[in-house]
Amino acid sequence: MKPFIIANWKQYLSIKESAKLFAQLLQLDRDSKMNGVDLIIAPSFVALPVLDAAKTKIKIAAQDCGATLVGAHTGAVSPTDLRILGATHVILGHSERRAEYFETDALIAEKIKAARAAKVTPIVCVGETAAERAAKKTRVVVGAQVRAALSAVKDPSELIFAYEPRWAIGMGTAVAPEDAAQIHAYIKDLANAPVRVCYGGSVSPENIAALLAEKNIDGVLIGGASAKFASLAACIKNAK
Ligand code: PGA
Repeated sequence: MKPFIIANWKQYLSIKESAKLFAQLLQLDRDSKMNGVDLIIAPSFVALPVLDAAKTKIKIAAQDCGATLVGAHTGAVSPTDLRILGATHVILGHSERRAEYFETDALIAEKIKAARAAKVTPIVCVGETAAERAAKKTRVVVGAQVRAALSAVKDPSELIFAYEPRWAIGMGTAVAPEDAAQIHAYIKDLANAPVRVCYGGSVSPENIAALLAEKNIDGVLIGGASAKFASLAACIKNAK
C-alpha cells in the first residue's frame, strides 16, 4: 500500500494562505511529483470550501467534528457538512484537542460514530505524555485510547490511527523510528484487523524516510513542516 502523508495545518494558515498552498500542491500533482504518496490535507474548517480536490488524487480531512449529525450544540460542525465540503477524512482526538479542550475518550468515541454515520473516515490520534512515558505507561495509556476508539466501530479497518507521542509534537525531535514502530505493532495487535497506523510528532524532510522505512509505519501526520510549501514538498520528495 502507498505511504500516506496527512498534512495537519492546525490554526497556522489563513483562508487565503491555505488556498495558495493548496494551489501549489495541485501543481505538484499535475507535474506528477507526488512520489507515489497519498496526500491528505487537513485545513481549518473555514478553508474547506476554498480547497477543491474534486479533480485530483489529493484528499481532504477536517481537523475535528461534532459528536452528532445535527442538534443543539453551539459551535459544533456536523460531519455531514464536512463531507459535503469535500472532506473524506477527519482527525479526531488530536492531543491538542484532548489537552486544550479536555476531550475524553468517551467524547472521541461519539465523534467517531458521527463521522462514520456521515461516511467520513476517522483518523484517531493516540499518544502518551512525557510523564506517562517516563513512568513506563505508554502501552497502558495508548491501549486505553485505542480500545475506546475501537468500541465505536464494528470493523476496526474503518479507522486510521495516528500514534502521536505528545512529547514529540512540535519539538523538533521525533521518536526513534524503531520505538514508534513497536507501538504501531501494539496498536495493530489490539485492532486485530488490518488497520493503518501513521506516526506524528516532529516529522520533517530529514526524518520522514527513516520513519516510513519501518514496516509498521504506514504513513505520517505532519504539523509544522506541512504548513509551508518548501518543507511539505521536501517531505513528499523524501518519502521514498
Ligand atoms: P508537528 O505536529 O509535526 O508540528 O510536531 C504534529 C501534530 O500535532 O499532528
